[in-house]
Amino acid sequence: MDDPYDVLGVKPDADEAELDQAYRRRVVETHPDQGGSVRAFQRVKAAYEAVMNDRDESAPDADAAADTEADEASDERRDIVSRVEYLDYEVIQDRGWSLDDDDLFEKASTAGLDPTAYGKFLINPGETLLEAAENRGFAWPYACRGGACANCAVAVVDGEMATPVDHILPAEMVDRGIRLSCIGAPTTETLQVVYNVKGLPDLDELKLPPYRFERARSTD
Ligand code: FES
Repeated sequence: MDDPYDVLGVKPDADEAELDQAYRRRVVETHPDQGGSVRAFQRVKAAYEAVMNDRDESAPDADAAADTEADEASDERRDIVSRVEYLDYEVIQDRGWSLDDDDLFEKASTAGLDPTAYGKFLINPGETLLEAAENRGFAWPYACRGGACANCAVAVVDGEMATPVDHILPAEMVDRGIRLSCIGAPTTETLQVVYNVKGLPDLDELKLPPYRFERARSTD
């Protein structure tokens, strides 16, 4: 395998912020949807994962324990079918609601919203949340599909979602319930998420240019 630092174009002593920046830059350069190739994109993704894994192995025990928990959660989600209740963040903005409203999904369920904006679907073992939405005909936002941007971000209102550790969301965002739908999946039987939150403050600067703006929307 090529030297992962060469692939990312950073020095081996690069700090985490430099690595994340390099990863995002290389994702944009190599993503097949942005004029690159699948092979080049996979190479960049593998290089980033290799560097992050390498650093995790030499990290203190607390980090290792956190990773183990994430791995266990990730394994757990492969075995369950979850029911996802979703809401488009645009609706919250249009109606003057808030992500913190206790009755957010209750209001959404009685507001007569279009099925693209509010509804429920089942997610099967092995599907990421984004894949599940797409497999059911929805066009949720995304750009890199590799954990390197915030375009696919969702806010978890209820339930749990596991995501691999190698993504660029700051820990503080993860603590606030923000997850990446392109690499995440529920670990609980029910999940309430607000999708399309990429415009939230702090997430905006992690966005990449989306390659796709629209696709036919339908429900199953
Ligand atoms: S689409 Fe970029 S992290 Fe999900």
